[in-house]
Amino acid sequence: MKILIIGSGGRENAIAYAVKKSKIETEIYCAPGNGGTEDIGINVPIKQDDIKGLLDFALKNKIDLTVVGPEIPLSLGITDEFTAAGLKIFGPDKKAALLESSKKFSKDFLKKYNIKTAGYESFDDLNKAENYVKNNPHPLVIKASGLAAGKGVFISKDAEESKKILKSIFIDKIFGKSGDTVVIEDYLDGFELSYMIVTDGISYKPLITSMDYKKIGEGDTGENTGGMGAITPNPYVSEDLINKINKNVIEPSLEGLKKEGIKYKGILYAGLMIKGEDIYVLEFNVRFGDPETQAILIRLESDIIELFLSVINENLKDYDLIFDNNDSLCLVLASGGYPKDYKTGYEIVFDKNLHSSGLIDKNGAEYFIFHAGTKKTGEKYLTDGGRVLNVCAKGKGKEIIKAVYDIAEKIDFKDKYSRKDIGKTF
Ligand code: AMP
Ligand code: GLY
Repeated sequence: MKILIIGSGGRENAIAYAVKKSKIETEIYCAPGNGGTEDIGINVPIKQDDIKGLLDFALKNKIDLTVVGPEIPLSLGITDEFTAAGLKIFGPDKKAALLESSKKFSKDFLKKYNIKTAGYESFDDLNKAENYVKNNPHPLVIKASGLAAGKGVFISKDAEESKKILKSIFIDKIFGKSGDTVVIEDYLDGFELSYMIVTDGISYKPLITSMDYKKIGEGDTGENTGGMGAITPNPYVSEDLINKINKNVIEPSLEGLKKEGIKYKGILYAGLMIKGEDIYVLEFNVRFGDPETQAILIRLESDIIELFLSVINENLKDYDLIFDNNDSLCLVLASGGYPKDYKTGYEIVFDKNLHSSGLIDKNGAEYFIFHAGTKKTGEKYLTDGGRVLNVCAKGKGKEIIKAVYDIAEKIDFKDKYSRKDIGKTF
């Protein structure tokens, strides 16, 4: 079976690993992929936003199944285009992807279907937005409505700061068209949780719970990033909470989507804030989270290709989604300076005894090294992005923390940075 995976991060390397493990024999292509996916399959130099290029490639090479990692191709309608051309593709269509690509759309959707979310107003005009921040208590949360690679959210302490942020979005256009509309929300405190389910538009199945470490610094300090690490299961989530999330967030959302005439097929990722008994939706993503997916997929026992096909063919209810009983951890090794400016092109040196996946280390943990921002030139690997590598392991709590940090020490590149406290909560 010929499989095309779109994207170039650690998430896509983990998907490629899981696909390779399938009992179905595969030929794997990644567009554009990274240094790690090149060791699993064949990298194809087509960018994730070049929908026509990807479609031409898939048709010409008779790709049997395409799996979309990131949100950009989904928001550009890759699923609609591939489906119209008779190709099988995993990921929601353009209309469904609005849940992520338009915060205004998703907030209006949540309000319409009585799903709890922070109070908000949306604006496409600087004056009206300025008036609002002048007349409302702070802190307030100011968000570019469109896609902004996780950088479009500001928590503002007073009206002065809010006005500066609004000017940078509306006048300086720091997010381009993604900032044409701005959503201003009430600030919520509580504990944050990401929750993912898979659905074929008829039934749904939750993935195992995970926790994402979003901030750059230890103890969750400093700037927001794409994610500096993840663990499964999320130690703060009880069975009771899972049931409440399913009943109060997931099921009404899936019902709402049906009522909107949207057949949602793929992963639905809800970013939640839990405050006492209340569960608020902060955002939806229409794809697997990164790096949560790396920690989740190393625990997947059932066949991922069959999972993708059961969603596309709308028989998910007959698919047995099975994870093992381990704990798992994913540590991000980043380029120093990330999430702001950083340099790339440094050689990555791996200890010669390290292998990329599936080995038991001396701590008794099974470990996996996934590539994110890397590229391979000849036999060398070079840094090629902010988040460079993911060191993952599964086993029992404390042992995997030790395994991951031991392995991280055996990988070297200039300006390597990682948080030192990933997994402390086990
Ligand atoms: P979003 O991309 O909308 O999930 O926002 C990114 C991050 O900003 C979230 O993970 C939260 O940490 C924070 N955030 C977003 N909305 C709110 C809110 N209404 N109240 C407090 N924090 C928020
Ligand atoms: N780790 C958060 C995300 O994938 O959006």
